[in-house]
Amino acid sequence: MKKLYIETYGCQMNVNDTEVVFSILAREGFERTEDIAEADVIFANTCSIRDNAEQRIWGRLDYFSTFRKSRPGVLVGILGCMAERLKDKLLDTGKVDIVAGPDAYRNLPALIAEASSGHPGINVILSREETYGDISPVRIDKGGVSAFISIMRGCNNVCSYCVVPYTRGAERSRDWRTIVREACECVEKGYREVTLLGQNVDSYLFEDVNFAKLLALVADVSPQLRVRFSTSHPKDISDEVIATMASRPNICHQIHLPVQSGNDRILEKMRRRYTREWYLGRVAKIREAMPDCGISTDAIVGFCSETEEEFRDTLSLFREVGFDSAFMFNYSERPGTLAARNYPDDVPPEVKTRRLNELIELQNNLSLESNRRDLDKVFEVLVEGPSKKGDGQLCGRNGAGKMCVWTDSEHKACDYVQVRVLDCSSATLLCELVKQ
Ligand code: SAH
Ligand code: SF4
Ligand code: F3S
Repeated sequence: MKKLYIETYGCQMNVNDTEVVFSILAREGFERTEDIAEADVIFANTCSIRDNAEQRIWGRLDYFSTFRKSRPGVLVGILGCMAERLKDKLLDTGKVDIVAGPDAYRNLPALIAEASSGHPGINVILSREETYGDISPVRIDKGGVSAFISIMRGCNNVCSYCVVPYTRGAERSRDWRTIVREACECVEKGYREVTLLGQNVDSYLFEDVNFAKLLALVADVSPQLRVRFSTSHPKDISDEVIATMASRPNICHQIHLPVQSGNDRILEKMRRRYTREWYLGRVAKIREAMPDCGISTDAIVGFCSETEEEFRDTLSLFREVGFDSAFMFNYSERPGTLAARNYPDDVPPEVKTRRLNELIELQNNLSLESNRRDLDKVFEVLVEGPSKKGDGQLCGRNGAGKMCVWTDSEHKACDYVQVRVLDCSSATLLCELVKQ
């Protein structure tokens, strides 16, 4: 057996793609290794979303080169979004044998064969059809509790700052039958949770099955299976999806709803195609249907020409919504995007960082407030396994997606338990087991 080592960067979809690559290459006699020193093939599945994501990969390439030198025959490959963006520029470095974009993974056996005979292999062709729908991913999370299922690929939104439509190509939805089949396989293998993945799940459509119908189909697979999903787009999340979530006990009440900015001029410049008022309206609708729904977001600070006052609108929106958690970023110009072509990246780096720190500090307080509101409440939690600290504690998430830890010697991963919240930090609910 040849040994394959893959490092994965970027979003959950990339994690799932790595699982697809392991599956494709398992058929060719490749076995997964977590020890880079024994690998015959070393891949990095990469992300281009911000410049620092790419910088990290350049550093890793130098490290991979040491194995290429010390063990002749070892192949190094770049997969994923950075492969798609930089194409043969990666081969020009002389450090890379294989370059494969996100839609080219079925071609990897041929690319490896080519590279083994001394010819660097590249395939960065984007597809309008590829969904890897027939491939059963080889799960890399050893926990065996929770699995990712990609339901679509690509993105048609072209937000002005974003590289994804260029690295992942046009949006396409996967046949719902293969999604339901994969969810069934997960249940058979003992998984208790699936997360349906797409850049914009609300625009899922295959034949007459939209995202709300797909959610219901997956929820019907087993009452023991929890269903989550990511990412929702504020302009597209429908009342039908919200109603489906509210009516199905095994669809978790958790929505990741990236807002990006709280200011209408910036939102328009970002091409998000909703307003602050629209966003707040969607949040109100979600909370009306599911008062216990966890709502998280993404935001970018220091987008082209953002003024101090406009940034304050993001702060005030965060306060108004009271997000449970958030991912926050400095704007990073990505070559080739609409923003890079049309607007100067004119907010100085130190101003971006000051704004970012202010937003992070606010969110830490909001997360703590959100967790304090849960004191004394009882939640059903799916056990993920021992908590990081060890010391006899287990951890798992409640329906809203909050991490809970509690002392417990009776249960194990994949059990459902009831816990009561005794205390909290901004990141964790500290709980006790409720005896049933
Ligand atoms: N499809 C999702 C986002 C995927 S990218 C959506 O539409 O919300 C994840 C997050 O990275 C985005 O929500 C955004 O906050 C951030 N991001 C994307 N491009 C960026 C850039 N050029 N600079 C900084 N952050 C960016
Ligand atoms: Fe990027 Fe916008 Fe598509 Fe999200 S919806 S992936 S931010 S272009
Ligand atoms: Fe990064 Fe590509 Fe995902 S750019 S965030 S790995 S879609």
